[in-house]
Amino acid sequence: MSLYEQVIQEFARQFSGQPTAVVRAPGRVNLIGEHTDYNDGFVLPMAIDRAAWIALRPRADARVCVYSPYFEQAITFALDDLETYRDGWIEYPRGVAWALTEAGHAITGWDGVLLSDVPVGAGLSSSAAVEMATARAFGVVSGFDWDAPTMAKLGQKVENHWIGVKSGIMDQMISASGRADHALLIDCRSLETQLVPLPAGTVVVVLDTATRRGLVDSAYNERRAQCETAARFFAVPALRDVTLAAFEDRASLLDANTRRRARHVISENERTLRAAEVMRQGDAVLLGQLMNDSHTSLRDDFEVSSDALNTIVDCARREPGCYGARMTGAGFGGCAVALVQAEAAESFASAVSVTYRNSTGLQPNVYVCRATNGAEVIA
Ligand code: GLA
Repeated sequence: MSLYEQVIQEFARQFSGQPTAVVRAPGRVNLIGEHTDYNDGFVLPMAIDRAAWIALRPRADARVCVYSPYFEQAITFALDDLETYRDGWIEYPRGVAWALTEAGHAITGWDGVLLSDVPVGAGLSSSAAVEMATARAFGVVSGFDWDAPTMAKLGQKVENHWIGVKSGIMDQMISASGRADHALLIDCRSLETQLVPLPAGTVVVVLDTATRRGLVDSAYNERRAQCETAARFFAVPALRDVTLAAFEDRASLLDANTRRRARHVISENERTLRAAEVMRQGDAVLLGQLMNDSHTSLRDDFEVSSDALNTIVDCARREPGCYGARMTGAGFGGCAVALVQAEAAESFASAVSVTYRNSTGLQPNVYVCRATNGAEVIA
């Protein structure tokens, strides 16, 4: 049974009767452009066929009641009591209500069931999916228009100021504005997007290492701070404004750590723009090479990879039909992504599962992802 069917069935069980709307918002996999978003740079993610779904029906009072297996029972919160962060998973939907209210929207209550098949902590943006699905749900019952960049910024505000994670804008932007069969080149400064098709005859394969990121928040915030230090050194608003040539001119004056962090971000921005170009030319070989280079840079210069990620990337690259592979998302565990010849995808997936399990003892989850639309009202 599809999640669409499940969410409707569960709604009938929890609230009796039918929902008046169903919304979905996807997770994402980033093809290239990692740790560049909070440097005002470029990213190239696609929205995937794993998503958060909400079946909902308006309520007469200013309360939201959400049932989800994430918290095993229905949780109700009041829309006139959004002063303080509490705790637990409901704070993602509740944070969206807070941010919408702060932005001046007069939001109204609803009953809803929330189901998601985006794995949590895997680097596929399960929380952005929930945020954008919740924003869509409020849009439906409260009748405001959907503007993807505005809603993405709102979701980022939830992460930054409600949940307390200093993440960039990529995850919410792609969950809000993805397009079927395309990746999206996002300029994280202007929030302009360009659709980029996948090279013909290729598929994107997600390789979940079955490890979950550990101390990711503190390491993430530390990397952010190092990037800001580097931007100050170059006297620019963000590392986006430094070219590789300008970097090389003055790099020797930076301490070794800051130098490597900056080199990753600056070279990754160039790789990402180049990747969009070669995708438009349909060049899978060059795209794969850029993905491989991105992994090396994340592993050695930005130091956000892990043994499991390096191993699964190596396993992937050894298989015929693999153009390239790299870690994806924040790092330290979770998923890698590979570009693979469509006709080799099945044998690729089973071979990598075996070789990775043999070298780590862990059972990975390897699957082809289709690029889907971003947050949408289904019914
Ligand atoms: C996480 C953050 C994003 C981005 C990536 C790394 O997914 O939420 O904003 O910084 O890490 O590219």
